[in-house]
Amino acid sequence: ESREYFSRELLVWYDRSKRDLPWRRHRDPYFIWVSEIMLQQTRVDTVIPYFHRFIERFPTIRDLAEALQEDVVKMWEGLGYYSRARNLQAAAQQIVELHDGEMPSEREHVFALKGVGPYTAGAILSIAFNQPEPAVDGNVMRVLSRYFLIEDDIAKPKTRIGMEKIIPGLIPEGRASDFNQALMELGALICTPKSPHCLICPVMEHCRGRIEGMERELPIKTKA
Ligand code: ADE
Repeated sequence: ESREYFSRELLVWYDRSKRDLPWRRHRDPYFIWVSEIMLQQTRVDTVIPYFHRFIERFPTIRDLAEALQEDVVKMWEGLGYYSRARNLQAAAQQIVELHDGEMPSEREHVFALKGVGPYTAGAILSIAFNQPEPAVDGNVMRVLSRYFLIEDDIAKPKTRIGMEKIIPGLIPEGRASDFNQALMELGALICTPKSPHCLICPVMEHCRGRIEGMERELPIKTKA
């Protein structure tokens, strides 16, 4: 079955080929959260030095909550989208007040944090807590739209929501963290936007987009 094939081969590939990224060396939910916020509008290579500096300066959620806002924003200088830094600190303050400084692991508590939308919440719950939650970003939508030949417009919220419904059924028992990171990794390294590397793709055999010669047309995205 092509779904089981997909999940199995994706994880085999990930176990062998994943990049050694700093936030993959820890399971601290705080580090996962910081990395995911930084990675939202910024490339991995750019994020790495910022990530190191940030967690060295603010090693815990409590340190971040208690810092001066100008110091937090200063650590963000060059990354852009400074509201991310301000929201991160505001959410750290929420966590101190409501959860004694520990990242909560309940869905509704994570979703309630400032600056945390469906993607970031899913990333925290799955990567840090290994819960079978979807974490669907642009990379993941590209991979799924090609593999399952989904021609829905990825600019529409309905399309992301549809993909979020598919993910839990694809996650092998106990492997939510690796599975979601493997999807992101495939999108970053193999199933790239302009010229996907189908010849070296671990799931090419059953990829409907490739089989139909549609891989470069997918995903469909309207509105500029
Ligand atoms: N992009 C967003 N999240 C990521 C992660 N955890 N690893 C690699 N790239 C990512």
